[in-house]
Amino acid sequence: MEFNQVVMTRRSVFKFEDKQVSLQDFLPLLTAANMAPNHGLTQPWQFLWLGEQTKSALADYYAHARAFKKYPIDSDEFYVSKSKALARFMAVPAILLVACCVDNNAIVAEEDYAATCCAVQNLLLAATDQGLGAQWSTHPMLRDAAVLRLLGLDPIKMRLVAMVYLGYPFGVTSVPPRKAAENFLQLLP
Ligand SMILES: Cc1cc2nc3c(=O)[nH]c(=O)nc-3n(C[C@H](O)[C@H](O)[C@H](O)COP(=O)(O)O)c2cc1C
Repeated sequence: MEFNQVVMTRRSVFKFEDKQVSLQDFLPLLTAANMAPNHGLTQPWQFLWLGEQTKSALADYYAHARAFKKYPIDSDEFYVSKSKALARFMAVPAILLVACCVDNNAIVAEEDYAATCCAVQNLLLAATDQGLGAQWSTHPMLRDAAVLRLLGLDPIKMRLVAMVYLGYPFGVTSVPPRKAAENFLQLLP
């Protein structure tokens, strides 16, 4: 795809075909992510490709939080909602977590976070280019120290920047309305 077409057609994709995404399919996305700009070449990112065991452990956190947001804990509705959310999470063809180092120096930490966000965007654009669909999620569980520990990450030294759902898009995803770019341009004297 042409660069402009990739940028203009990238969408957050929520519905996926029932088709696996292999680690091999993911490698070009990883390469693109790793080429993101990063100050001081810190390459502050880590990409965690979830196997079934980790996915299933995280599904429980995900589903619990979803159900807890809507229903009183231990109510019938809570369990129905939780089991639907569990099934939805497990049905996502591939899930990737993107973590970032947290430097002791606040400026470096901010720049590293920004660089990791650039890496995620590269990854999303590369996914579009490969015919894959992706969605960047910042589900509250990404801020839960227990989740980081479950992933083998030290919550003092690392933070989770994105959970990326990946798969082959099902159907066409509509374009969310946006204000025209000119609204955000200021021409200074
Ligand atoms: C930092 C970040 C966090 C996001 N977190 C979520 C999320 O938790 N849940 C979600 O449904 N979408 C999330 N999104 C996706 C946005 O909702 C989406 O980009 C926006 O609706 C515009 O749609 P588009 O990506 O198709 O252009 C996130 C996007 C970014 C950049």
